Amino acid sequence: MASESIRLVRRYCLTQRLVHWLGVLTFLTLLLSGIILVVSPLASLAAGGTTRLIHRIAVVPFMLLPILYLTCNPKQAKELVKESFTFTRADIEWFKHMPAYFLGRTKGLPPQGRINAGQKIHHAATFIMFITIALSGFVLWFGKGQLGTNALALTAMVHDLSMLGLSVLMIGHLYFTFVYDAISGMVRGYVTEEYAKMEHPKWLEELPENQFIVKKKNQS
Ligand code: HEM
Repeated sequence: MASESIRLVRRYCLTQRLVHWLGVLTFLTLLLSGIILVVSPLASLAAGGTTRLIHRIAVVPFMLLPILYLTCNPKQAKELVKESFTFTRADIEWFKHMPAYFLGRTKGLPPQGRINAGQKIHHAATFIMFITIALSGFVLWFGKGQLGTNALALTAMVHDLSMLGLSVLMIGHLYFTFVYDAISGMVRGYVTEEYAKMEHPKWLEELPENQFIVKKKNQS
């Protein structure tokens, strides 16, 4: 039995991971309860008002997400928003490699920083849709009786389309997480140095030595 060492790089701290998984849980609760509320053939499941109550309760942790991130990790939260809306020449080049990247090929990819150009699109669109979902949701919740039928129908359309957009983004996000085996960063907080070199070489170059750990890997 020989033992080999691998170097791991710290990617997310515990609070960042907890906020992310709380986000996933609340998003899925809102999505499933929302589908039951708007899809007519499922109307019987919404009878009695429990689904509407669950939907409204899930709004609370959903709205708390940015506050929690900003409170626990203010520096990382501000960097995340700034990086997500900052596109460079290397990002434009990266998009030209997108079809190959989609198929799991990374040869010739322009070096990327902490988040790659595809993740920037995902995160930026997520933040925008978070705002449209929240605003339209509050109008639907509190605006009944004050707004006309057309205004309410338009608000419902914005709310539903934003949720559809976030669901499509989540499918892409999940696809790339598993194609590139990125899940360990969001579960254990560490990724292999090899993965970071392939996906985020510019970020890796700038990391201080205390962000690395060495782990023994047993080999038979
Ligand atoms: C089961 C579903 C999900 C899985 C498996 C998953 C997995 C991941 C992983 C592995 C990362 C880290 C990627 C990296 O190292 O760069 C990540 C980051 C992220 N995910 Fe998810 N995710 C899921 C659902 C969602 C949903 C529903 C949203 C938003 C609606 C979301 C928003 C984000 C954001 C904004 C980040 C960046 C976090 C940061 O840099 O602080 N994720 N996700």
